[in-house]
Amino acid sequence: MDVSLATTQAEQQNSDCLVVAIFEGKRLSPTATQLDKACGGGIARLLKRGDLEGKLGQCLLLHDLSGIVASRVLLVGCGKEKDLTLTAFKNVIRTACQQIANGNIKDAVCYFTEIDIIGQGLNWKIRRITETLFHSLYKFEQLKSSKDKSKSNLRKVTLHVENKGDIKSGRKALAEASAIASGTSLARDLGNLPGNICTPSYLADQAKHIAKTCKQLKVTVLDEAQIKKLKMGSFLSVAKGSREAPKLIVMEYQGLTADDKPHVLIGKGITFDAGGISIKPAAKMDEMKFDMCGAASVIGTMQTLAELQPRINVVAIVPSCENLPDGNANKPGDIVTSMSGQTIEILNTDAEGRLILCDALTYAEKFKPKSVIDVATLTGACVVALGHQAAAVLGNDETVINKILDAGNTTGDRAWQMPLWEEYQEQLNSNFADMANIGGPSAGAITAACFLSRYAKKLKWAHLDIAGVAWDSGQNKGATGRPVTLLSQYLLNQCKK
Ligand code: BES
Ligand code: MN
Ligand code: ZN
Repeated sequence: MDVSLATTQAEQQNSDCLVVAIFEGKRLSPTATQLDKACGGGIARLLKRGDLEGKLGQCLLLHDLSGIVASRVLLVGCGKEKDLTLTAFKNVIRTACQQIANGNIKDAVCYFTEIDIIGQGLNWKIRRITETLFHSLYKFEQLKSSKDKSKSNLRKVTLHVENKGDIKSGRKALAEASAIASGTSLARDLGNLPGNICTPSYLADQAKHIAKTCKQLKVTVLDEAQIKKLKMGSFLSVAKGSREAPKLIVMEYQGLTADDKPHVLIGKGITFDAGGISIKPAAKMDEMKFDMCGAASVIGTMQTLAELQPRINVVAIVPSCENLPDGNANKPGDIVTSMSGQTIEILNTDAEGRLILCDALTYAEKFKPKSVIDVATLTGACVVALGHQAAAVLGNDETVINKILDAGNTTGDRAWQMPLWEEYQEQLNSNFADMANIGGPSAGAITAACFLSRYAKKLKWAHLDIAGVAWDSGQNKGATGRPVTLLSQYLLNQCKK
């Protein structure tokens, strides 16, 4: 799909479909007004008849209006003009997409750039329209033997830009949006692939593949022997319950000179989480193939960087293995020694994410990073607390946390802060080791972060618990690609000008 910017004359535009906004109270957007004039008041008459009120999400597809060159005009209800929020704007774009992706529409011109959203400029709108467009058109059909027949014919979307002078900076926004969409789509593919295909080795191969497309990206994959050498006893204890070889994937993107310290992203790469000996119940266990979505979002973000080549240094670290019950698996009560030297009593083998992340955090120290963000589908408790709307963010550096919250608010790929007060730390006390790997039934998302904080003392660190946002369940089951947008925005905001 090709998205481009152009200054257009709506009524003279040769296109399969023009997409324009209508507001509640039958108010026409500027382009709708212009088209209405060109076709002798046909649109206003139709609204008067009551066929479209302009309510949020309502759509009406008109064919062959006289005086208009384009063969179709799609009127899209945007609700009350003054109430249009970021969430509503995204819903409008999604609805319009679903309409133009059906049937025989091959190209469309979209006039949503003229919608006013308080505090937001043209480039922000270009970003949101383009990212939502790609997101709505995403399909995962790799593993279906016959492809979906209702396949979209849409090949080209042009976003109307009122002033020619805005096109240059708009192109930058468009490039960012396409790169983010591409990273998101990769993260969704990796998430949707099942555990028997998307193994730690598969993730490593994908990372290497991205490096082939970009000179500034170097990928190193450490195998079990090398991980052992690093003394990652905690990570390896999880891996040893599976026949699948663990991998530590390290991706280094260099957009600045080598002496510039990098930002580090760490992604939880559990390619299947059965819980281990503390085995999970059978219902919905299939969804634990999504337990590598932290890794997927981090690899997806590196794909975005590889495409955009911004002026920043970023390292991604992905510890990856399976968590299965086995004769050789961790047992409740087992005590392991992490790379940091701290010992851990594994009271529940299903709290495995923190066991692989703690060693990755210690490994991150060697890069002397400007900031470290770990991304993980870490706790069911996070889903209880925040639902599927926001990721939880906790950390030891308020500057990093605030930058994450900011990036979430501008993009809509949101995060919400939870407290990491020392009062919670005592829940991790162990009678036999330096700490336990679980903190009991209360404040599960917080005590998980407390555990990680013990390995992040030398880092400017924040943790994103994405258990609620990384995938959808039910009818639309599938990976969302979150938080690739959030991470990409966070990094873009810190690039050298
Ligand atoms: N991957 C899960 C967390 C999870 C569960 C995410 C369900 C989304 C939906 C993680 O490894 C896990 O099992 N966490 C346990 C921790 C508990 C044993 C302290 C949990 O949340 O139940
Ligand atoms: Mn688990
Ligand atoms: Zn897990």
